[in-house]
Amino acid sequence: MSVAYVDEIGKHEGSEVTVRGWVYNLRLGGKIAFLLVRDGTGIVQAVASKADVGDERFAALAALTQESSLCVTGSVRKDSRAPGGYEMSIRDFSVGQIAEEYPITPKEHGTAFLMEHRHLWLRSSRQHAILRVRATLVSALRDFFDSRGFLLVDAPIFTPAACEGTTTLFQTAYFDDTAYLTQSGQLYNEATAMAFGKVYCFGPTFRAEKSKTRRHLMEFWMLEPEIAYATLEDVMALEEEMLEAVVARVLADRLPELTLLERPLDPLRAVRRPFPRITYGEAIEILNKKGAPLKWGDDFGGDDETLLAEEFDRPVFVHRYPVECKAFYMQPDPEDPRVALGADCLAPEGYGEITGGGQRIHDLALLDKRLVQHGLPREAFEWYRDLRRYGSVPHSGFGLGLERLVAWVCKLPHVRETIPFPRMLYRIYP
Ligand code: 4AD
Ligand code: MG
Repeated sequence: MSVAYVDEIGKHEGSEVTVRGWVYNLRLGGKIAFLLVRDGTGIVQAVASKADVGDERFAALAALTQESSLCVTGSVRKDSRAPGGYEMSIRDFSVGQIAEEYPITPKEHGTAFLMEHRHLWLRSSRQHAILRVRATLVSALRDFFDSRGFLLVDAPIFTPAACEGTTTLFQTAYFDDTAYLTQSGQLYNEATAMAFGKVYCFGPTFRAEKSKTRRHLMEFWMLEPEIAYATLEDVMALEEEMLEAVVARVLADRLPELTLLERPLDPLRAVRRPFPRITYGEAIEILNKKGAPLKWGDDFGGDDETLLAEEFDRPVFVHRYPVECKAFYMQPDPEDPRVALGADCLAPEGYGEITGGGQRIHDLALLDKRLVQHGLPREAFEWYRDLRRYGSVPHSGFGLGLERLVAWVCKLPHVRETIPFPRMLYRIYP
């Protein structure tokens, strides 16, 4: 028995193979049965005739339900009418388990129902397309940084202190102590950047965000580069190069998936350097002109980001936000200390912020002042303060939210479909 995977079935044209999978669909036409078999890598049409397999076996085949597991053996031939371009003629088959009535049918289901059945929903073509794009983005991102001399250095998940504000911390008992699930690997990246120069970490991060929006998850993956001696300008240049490269890779490698998702391609093809850059002050002016009543000092909400991004055909950087809008570690602009040397990258088409980053405070006295202003416990930051004691240098980095990137690249209405098992405000099942 020569086992073949559907995505490579063309290599076996003219010979007999076994495909191991599940029934995607079954159509009966008198003496002939058309099975669509999915094996995870693709879907192949397999045809059985009563004459070939015999009456009894044919009846067994005809009784198979959606998602029943089975192995089919038969010869492969080219057929331009078949999905995928190849078809199998079934000579033999074996049934694993006959599936109970499958809850997800081709009819429309509500989101709550699908989320409840996320473990099964993952078998659908649409979810396959999204998760394949996600995997390609991860691979493209890693290639991008690996090929530019960045070292992958992982950050811990249990942490003793907040990175991105104390209001969104998940707290957990840590034996006799208290720990928090990491909000960002950045602080540890700063240590490893001082050790290795150019680093990135990539892993799950957690935010107890009481916001039920299409952009927020409680658990999401973040890729975070950090570079010693780099400035805000350096990281914006790196970000636009990265986004151009990874979007190009998806366009090259995942066209069938984007097509299945009905994702318009022109907006992705427009993702070319340089990206426009506007200051926070300019952003406020644009928003005011468009009728949003924001004043200097207000932070942007999702709707404001959408309004701003509408002005541009590619991602846009908004830089130099007021210091009060941003985290404790942001370096103030020497030209105007009211604003921080930080930038967010806003994706077009209503997706809003996909990256946040900038230059970090490298002066110990200023850092101490900020820790006090933000009510952060100095003891927990002693090690972080050390980085300003032993060869401190200006340094910068950013964080890219993977799910937000996937949602935009696939043009999905919500981030919940971008991760296999989303953790949301009112859902932790399955
Ligand atoms: O802007 P944020 O909070 O920045 C940081 O955490 C920095 N410490 C990163 C750094 O400089 N190393 O988060 C970075 C990105 C956001 O731009 C967004 O894409 C994503 O993480 N993000 C979320 N994605 C999904 N759900 C949430 N609740 C998110 N919060 C942030
Ligand atoms: Mg941010």
